[in-house]
Amino acid sequence: MSENVIQVLVIDDDEDDFILLQKHLGEVVGQKFSLHWAPSYDKGKEALHRHKEEKRYDVCFVDYRLGIRTGIDLLKEVISEDINVPIILLTGYGQRDVDMEAMKVGAADYLVKDQISHFLLEKTIRYAIYRFKNQVQLKEREAQIFMQDRLASIGLLASSLAHEIGTPLGVIRGRAEYISNHSENDPVVLKSMNVIVAQIDRISKLIHSLLNLARGDQIKSVGELHLDRVISDVLDLMGHELKKNDIEIMNEVVEGLTLKTTGGSESLHQVLLNLVVNSLHAIQSAVKQGRAGSHFIHFYVERKKDFLVLCVEDSGTGISKQNLRNLFKPFFTTKDIGSGTGLGLATSYRIVESWGGSIAVESEENVGTVFKVLLPVSNLAK
Ligand SMILES: Nc1ncnc2c1ncn2[C@@H]1O[C@H](COP(=O)(O)OP(=O)(O)OP(=O)(O)O)[C@@H](O)[C@H]1O
Ligand SMILES: [Mg+2]
Repeated sequence: MSENVIQVLVIDDDEDDFILLQKHLGEVVGQKFSLHWAPSYDKGKEALHRHKEEKRYDVCFVDYRLGIRTGIDLLKEVISEDINVPIILLTGYGQRDVDMEAMKVGAADYLVKDQISHFLLEKTIRYAIYRFKNQVQLKEREAQIFMQDRLASIGLLASSLAHEIGTPLGVIRGRAEYISNHSENDPVVLKSMNVIVAQIDRISKLIHSLLNLARGDQIKSVGELHLDRVISDVLDLMGHELKKNDIEIMNEVVEGLTLKTTGGSESLHQVLLNLVVNSLHAIQSAVKQGRAGSHFIHFYVERKKDFLVLCVEDSGTGISKQNLRNLFKPFFTTKDIGSGTGLGLATSYRIVESWGGSIAVESEENVGTVFKVLLPVSNLAK
């Protein structure tokens, strides 16, 4: 989108309406508009979908009458898909009831075609864009506050759990080991005690993950991080399991790629391990769903503006649009109880965020997923 030209999408099956809007907007002094015409319901939907990926428009006009369907139908369809643009509905004279319906489904405004003047149009567009920006900022802020609150309560809960449950657990674990050592090698007792110790370790790990999530990466000693080494460490750890599942590993990260970070390499190690374990699970599920055949996990690096992007791509199940929205929320998991806590990605995000980076994700169901870890280039070791 250009800085000072306002990009306007017009979804209207009547070319005369489009020409009229163009004429009015051409008369506005001090502001340029560039108009794009989508002459049908389907073409409009296509344009809005492209906008979702490429952020092409600042505002969109939708005619109420679009063949056998209406602008309201289109609004209902696109608003549920998180398409970020203010939409102004255009109607003919005498359709005031449409006004209420438009508001209900989330239109930014409503204009009656034959009452349009260049003054009214310019003002409506300006207000719609302004209100929309404010709304987006407000939503982001709310989400941030919600997440911070949630993390703060998790932190509190985790530290009190660490103390209140951690201490008795330590005692139980010690006693279980004592009984094992004095069981005169009775296999039944030994087996039970091993189960007790393993379950206690699972609870301790969960408490530890909660503490980590609330903390992010707080180690502030600056260190050098060898990306290629972290990847090969993770592959050493997971190699056996990946091979067992017939997963091909492609690693294109060049040797010697080094970053300065404020944390130790354990943190990036943790992030990558989370991603690789998730990819492994997604591939296992894809195989179970009948997509056997060649599967892979692919590591590569891209450069995007001020970020070095470390990509982990897999050929697993992919992620639905609905789940994509919740991916980084603490405790979001689609795995069975006991196999996933839903803290992996939330913790990874917190760690990368504390370095000034972020994690993005692209996914297609039944094809696979790419997780992109954006690391600030200012951290690249010279
Ligand atoms: N590569 C992937 N392919 C498909 N789905 C994925 C992938 N990575 C994550 N997911 C989805 O995101 C959810 C959340 O992942 P996350 O790592 O946060 O938690 P988890 O793996 O369920 O549990 P854990 O806390 O053990 O990591 C997963 O349950 C899964 O549904
Ligand atoms: Mg996980």
